[in-house]
Formats: sequence, C-alpha cells, structure tokens
Amino acid sequence: METALRQTPEKRQVFFLTILLLWGEAGSETIRYSMPEETESGYLVANLEKDLRLRVGELATRGAQIHYKGNKELLQLDTETGNLLLKEKLDREELCGVTEPCLLHFQLILENPVQFFQTDLQLTDINDHSPEFPHKEMLLKIPESAQPGTVFPLKAAQDSDIGNNAVQNYTVSSNLHFHVVTLSRADGRKYPELVLDRALDREEQPELTLTLTAVDGGSPPRSGTTTVRIEVVDINDNAPQFVQSLYEVQVPENSPVDALVLTVSAMDLDAGIHGNVVYSLFQGGGASQPFAIHGVTGEIRLSKELDFEVTNHYNIEIAATDGGGFSGKCNVAVQVLDVNDNAPELTIRKLTSPIPENSLETVVAVFSVSDPDSGDNGRVVCSIQNDLPFLLKPTFKNYYTLVTEGPLDRESRAEYNITITVTDLGTPRLTAQHTITVQVSDVNDNAPAFTQTSYTLFVQENNSPALHIGTISATDSDSGSNAHITYSLLPTHDPQLALSSLISINAL
Ligand SMILES: *[C@@H]1O[C@H](CO)[C@@H](O)[C@H](O)[C@H]1NC(C)=O
Ligand SMILES: *[C@@H]1O[C@H](CO)[C@@H](O)[C@H](O)[C@H]1NC(C)=O
Repeated sequence: METALRQTPEKRQVFFLTILLLWGEAGSETIRYSMPEETESGYLVANLEKDLRLRVGELATRGAQIHYKGNKELLQLDTETGNLLLKEKLDREELCGVTEPCLLHFQLILENPVQFFQTDLQLTDINDHSPEFPHKEMLLKIPESAQPGTVFPLKAAQDSDIGNNAVQNYTVSSNLHFHVVTLSRADGRKYPELVLDRALDREEQPELTLTLTAVDGGSPPRSGTTTVRIEVVDINDNAPQFVQSLYEVQVPENSPVDALVLTVSAMDLDAGIHGNVVYSLFQGGGASQPFAIHGVTGEIRLSKELDFEVTNHYNIEIAATDGGGFSGKCNVAVQVLDVNDNAPELTIRKLTSPIPENSLETVVAVFSVSDPDSGDNGRVVCSIQNDLPFLLKPTFKNYYTLVTEGPLDRESRAEYNITITVTDLGTPRLTAQHTITVQVSDVNDNAPAFTQTSYTLFVQENNSPALHIGTISATDSDSGSNAHITYSLLPTHDPQLALSSLISINAL
C-alpha cells in the first residue's frame, strides 16, 4: 500500500506517503526480533518494556496494544510484564512463501501521548520440507545416434523451503552412459540436466532405468527421488524446437478463466508423424498451477484466476514433443498486472469516547488504513466531513489520529457522528467508510442562572407560619450532578433584620 500527503483547501484531506522500500525509516524506532519458524506457541519472543526502555507498568497504564495487518493475532502482549509471547506456531512457507527475508511487521501503540513503535519479527527457515518430483517416473526417448555431450532436460524437484534448505544438488544412480548436472535458474532455484557420456546401443540395451535424487542443503539434508526411464530408439529424428526459447507476457489479474495468455510454437524439421508436435507443461500441472496449454495449438490459457496480491509473476516451462517422443523446451515468463480490486480497509485501533469538553487538542481515535493493491490502486486518501471541529493527522506509516481542533462545548453539541472516508486513487476509485460516534462529557463550566434577576413577592401580615410565599427558579446548562441545583438564602446586610428566623427556602 502506498499513501501520499497533500492538503486541499476545499476538503479536509490528508494524503500520506509510505514507500515500501522506506518501510522502517519512518523516524520511529524499529526493533527486530528473529526466531525460527514452527516454534511452539507460548514462546517468549521479547520483553518490550525492557527493550523499549519503558517504565515498569507503563505498557499497562498507557493501554499498549500490538497490531499485525489483517488483525491476525500472531503475538500476544502481556502488558503487566511486557512479555511478548508467541500465540500460535508460525509457518514461514504459509506467511511468506518465497519472499526472503520473511519479516512480519507489528505496531505497538501507546496512548497519553500517542506513540508508535515498529516491531519486526523475522522468521527464519527450518528444513521442514523434502524435495519432491512432480511425477514418480519420467520417460525420455533418446536416439541411439545421439552424440556424447548431448544434453536432455529433466524435471526439477520442488521444495517449499528456501535458501540452503531448498534443493541444492541432483545426482543420478551410477551407470555407464549418463551423468547429471545441476544448474541454477535466474531466481536461484536449481534444475537438473542429463548429459550423455557414452553413446547408446539399442541392440545392447534398449532401455535404461536411472534413479534421480534431489538433495537439499539443510542439516540434516532431506532428499526426494524419481525414476528416469530411458528408451533408446533407432530412428534418426530431429527434436522440436521452439520459435523463441523465452516468451514474456503480461496478464491483468482477475482475467477470466480460459483467457488466452499466449500462443507458443515449435517447429519440427521432420515431416509426417515425427513432425507433429504436442505441447505440454514441462513440469506438469499442479493444484497451484493456474495455466493450461492446448496440446495441438500451443495456446496457453488461464485455468484459474490470477491474484496479483498473492503471486505477481510466474515462470512456466513448456515442452513440445514430436511423434517420435523427442522433445524441446521453452520458458514463459508471465507478469501479473495489478487491477484495483481491493477496496481500502480502515481499522479503528483506539477510540476515546466520551471526551471531556473544554480540553485542548485531544486524541479521539487512532486508526489504520490499508489497501493491498499496488501503485495508485493502493494509494489512499482519508477525509472526514468539513463542518466538524476535528482534524485527521497522519501519524505513523498508515496510521492516522483523529484529534479535536480545539476545546468542545458540550452545552452547544454533546454528540458528533464522524464519518471517515478512505478512497484509493485507482480506476475505478474504491472507498471505505466508517462512522464513529463521539460523546462530549460535561465539565461544570456553567453557573446556575435564575430565570429572573429579581423577584418581588407579596405576603400579608398576620399570616400563619409555613405560608408559601412564592417560587423562584434557576437553571444550569451543565448535565448530571453538574446541573443539580440547591437553593439557600444569603445573610442580609442588615443585622437587625433576622431574616432567617422569618423566611426559609426549600433547598431543592
Ligand atoms: C553434488 O553431489 C555429488 C555427489 O554426491 C558431489 O560429488 C558434488 O560435490 C555435489 N555438488 C554440490 C554442489 O554439492
Ligand atoms: C448519530 O448517529 C446515530 C445513529 O445513526 C443517531 O441516532 C444520532 O442521532 C446521530 N447523532 C447526531 C448528532 O447526528
């Protein structure tokens, strides 16, 4: 999400800019903790009171709260002790996929005054996945005329761990004809190729079976195997060749299932059955694979909708196989384009209501906004109604505070409904709104006032005691006990006139 800061005169708007690359340079202290994934829940990650050099009990008295995006509670803060505990076991592969380092960003919010701290938790990878080949067996057809040094592509094993815990090396069971080499793709992942060392002779051995092993670099290392079955054929055939070895294409996310992504094409110099090529996904289609290829036309279509927010690019390998069983390979790099398909989200983190009247600038609410889209689709602007005595202030990254513009007067308005509107700058613009009700609490700032400045009451002489002479009345515009009025008579200036022995007033 990106936001920008700007003021426009006609509307009370606040733009707030955060560039993901500058995350962590927002002028506030960032502390980073690191722990291995899959650590048991209840693990003590840190003591924030100590690490942030706060006073004993300050986290509790300042209402400390810890937040993670999406309001998921991964960590639990014990404000009494300052201990930050792991709430549940965290799986690095689920939270970060292939992103490395795997950093989870938490914000600690304190109030009185409002203060933010950034806490990043880095999850380190443990070797909890073994390499796995897409199929139990691979079939390769190799002409007996193939020259030593000829290279044959092999399917790679998948390992959801990263770095050293991912596949590092491929080996093949010992044999007289082949060895395997391990190569690195642009993204660092390793793939195997089979190299012919010694010419094959179909009459001597028409078929070979090898075991291909993928080993990761964990300690201890984990491995996975597959069988490579090689059929030696005696036709002198040409393998199909793609027109391009690399295709690059861009696809907007949310394109409908079955939308055409690209058409690949391979040529085969042989005529007839050996010249007809059939296209397929080299690594095979998996549940996570959102592409399908038409065997005859080479059209690659979506088999699932793409979500830019989950995966923004794919590398697919396509095989073209001819009737003789020979194949060629090409790569397709698919870049997913962002579409403004996520409305901004607003989360109220703290709300103080009622707020006392007559106070200077008071923090009413702390809220965060987010929009997972990228570029303008993820840039947001926040506003509230124009005619309210409140201001929005960008505070920390994607956090805002709503503050009073100045002292409020409960006697003129005791309740405000404030609608916060968050709009992104994508096309079409998407909006989220949240209305908060803020009550203003009373301070005893109004003296009682009589309905008249003077009352003239008449009383006949020789009356009997307890005669009701008349009623006077005062009102108080405060509320509750601040408006509760009691009446009393003040002593007169003339000491001769013992008024209190002659007249009394009912206090209520
Ligand atoms: C891969 O494994 C082979 C056989 O065990 C070994 O000789 C080779 O050094 C390994 N290569 C790497 C890069 O670990
Ligand atoms: C605020 O909204 C509530 C609920 O919609 C409504 O009952 C109340 O009258 C509103 N208050 C003001 C001051 O508009």
